[in-house]
Amino acid sequence: MEVLDKKFRLYITEGKILSRVKRLGTQISYDLVGKNPLLVVNLNGAMVFGVDLHRSITIPSELTTIRLKSYAGTKSTGEIKTIMPLQEDIVGRTVVIVEDIVDSGATIQAIVQQMKDLGAADVRIATLLFKKEACKIENLPLDYVGFEIPNKFVVGYGLDYNGYGRNLRDIFVPAKE
Ligand code: IMP
Ligand code: MG
Repeated sequence: MEVLDKKFRLYITEGKILSRVKRLGTQISYDLVGKNPLLVVNLNGAMVFGVDLHRSITIPSELTTIRLKSYAGTKSTGEIKTIMPLQEDIVGRTVVIVEDIVDSGATIQAIVQQMKDLGAADVRIATLLFKKEACKIENLPLDYVGFEIPNKFVVGYGLDYNGYGRNLRDIFVPAKE
């Protein structure tokens, strides 16, 4: 399988992803009952996960989007830009940040800080993927993690390689390294 100039191989199947996402939704519904959580989806990568996760949540809840960016190509740049800030008033609210992947942890840390600064009462994190070995932030409270993965570049299910591959239903890793 190819995306742009790179060869990829199957890593996590759509079936496995969807059953895991469903369980995360069930867990969130149980944990946050009566809290009317607002899911804050970080575009573009978490778009697919965000929608599937929200559809797996059975309690009253809302969904909105923000866009913070730190990546170019297959490497984290370390520099984070807020391209689209939050529009909602979240003072006193329970917020669930929805991210596709936590790599160095810089992006999620910046989002957590923004949500706290905006007055959220409770800030939770849901990430589909977590590159534990790559994470530089200690004691990051990752409440809902789909899969812990090794420090490899991944594409599919919303995650891109230079803008492409988001529409792949499964998740892929580079074929050779
Ligand atoms: P961090 O700030 O280093 O944790 O990087 C997180 C952001 O980089 C996420 O929002 C992703 O969009 C992107 N990212 C990190 N690793 C990958 C990957 O393996 N594939 C695609 N995007 C990634
Ligand atoms: Mg992203």
